[in-house]
Amino acid sequence: MQEKPDNFTAVIFGANSDLAARKLYPSLYELAQWGHLPDEYRIIGVGRSALSHEDFRALVHEKLVAFSPGIVLDESPFKAFCSRLFYVRLDFKDGDSYKDLYREIMAVSHEAGLFEHILYYLATPPDLAPVIIRNLGHAGLGGNQESCGGWRKIIVEKPYGRDLETARQLNVVIGEVFGEDRIFRIDHYLGKEPVQNIMVFRFSNGIFEPLWTRNYIANVEITIAEDFGIRDRGAFYEEAGLLRDIVQNHALQLLAALAMEPPVDLSADSVRDEKAKVLRSIRPFTADTAGESVILGQYEGYRSEKNVAPDSTVETFAALKFHVDNWRWKDVPFYVKAGKNLAETLTRIVITFKCPPQNYFGPAESCSYTANQVVFSIQPEETIALRFGAKRPGEAIITDPVYMKFDYKTSFSEAGMTPYHRLLLDAISGEQMNFIRQDSVEHSWAIVDSIRGAVNGRSPELYPIHSHGPESSVRIYS
Ligand code: BG6
Repeated sequence: MQEKPDNFTAVIFGANSDLAARKLYPSLYELAQWGHLPDEYRIIGVGRSALSHEDFRALVHEKLVAFSPGIVLDESPFKAFCSRLFYVRLDFKDGDSYKDLYREIMAVSHEAGLFEHILYYLATPPDLAPVIIRNLGHAGLGGNQESCGGWRKIIVEKPYGRDLETARQLNVVIGEVFGEDRIFRIDHYLGKEPVQNIMVFRFSNGIFEPLWTRNYIANVEITIAEDFGIRDRGAFYEEAGLLRDIVQNHALQLLAALAMEPPVDLSADSVRDEKAKVLRSIRPFTADTAGESVILGQYEGYRSEKNVAPDSTVETFAALKFHVDNWRWKDVPFYVKAGKNLAETLTRIVITFKCPPQNYFGPAESCSYTANQVVFSIQPEETIALRFGAKRPGEAIITDPVYMKFDYKTSFSEAGMTPYHRLLLDAISGEQMNFIRQDSVEHSWAIVDSIRGAVNGRSPELYPIHSHGPESSVRIYS
């Protein structure tokens, strides 16, 4: 087991949020049970409602029961966890009320290290991020104002801004209050075990990396599909749309991990340097190319969802053809398909290799039937499969595609941590490799802005629920 982190106080803005209830409290509770947290820690929930510490403890208990049925709430460990929970009511926009927060942190931080090490978590709507960060700075609670030799770090949830301009503004605001080494821009996809494994697969196996170039790879396809709609997030989706919700972060982070060069070493910045270079190399979309490289869709019935405008033109589906204009990937298309209310829920990456120079076993066009593929299934299956052609038993020489498969479940017995367990622990320990750096977040927004600009005014095409998206999305393969 890793060395225990410093004693610390976590301050969660948005104590009543869905994210806190579903992800943060269960993860912190389980990390404590598994012995990953230090001997002393405090968790201060910060919200707009008036709650006592006891009310807050009851609320956390209620949420754990409601949302984490698998969690074991044994009396004594749960009591120990509860005794470390505190609550502060705060008007996020009122700078003066941050004095109460300061006082409360002081009041609960008697043990060594608690006041010196503070981890803020912004589980609040994105527009509140700048105001909270500024107020923390004014109240003397920022990360650049550490007077006692400790640390103050901040985790910021996606969406990080809503375009390049707002992301830059947020980077300026946050940079005035926290150093880049104290900023943890979270994308929970980077906490998924099979996503972390992409880099390991590529750089720990001598046989694949030499082939991982335009010389051998025909195309790369990333699919992030969900068989459910926007659920109760109509207001959020109307603001965001799928490009901001899924493509700017999850999809582009997968693309960066697949396309990056080998890092100099495994330090957070070496790895993030390589990812940033990929994102910078992505060819911007233009109105001239968008006809075949950008197909946006909206599922039928989206406009009748709660908090959605009856004439909304927000996209819930995107099929995109990216090009990474660098030495390794020139002319290799990276297809991304993502959408809500599609036929199934899965995240999958397919690397398709070029055909052999001579196809002895069928007409030249049949090669695609058995072309070699590496298939990363990120979820719900957690597998990696290698597809190759094999002779079908019988007299005739006929080839069929077959698979060799690695499955996390059967190869490893220990249950992995969830992304939030892992990323919270990383942030507490100061490991930034799986958090997005300022340059990457800006490059990603520049790409998404170029997509939005390229289709300016084009309405998304309607697609039936539980389909594969608009039929025209096949155009990206042309
Ligand atoms: C979130 C998006 O970031 O990721 C959601 O806001 C999406 O729209 C979710 O459903 C998918 O995450 P996961 O881990 O459930 O696949």
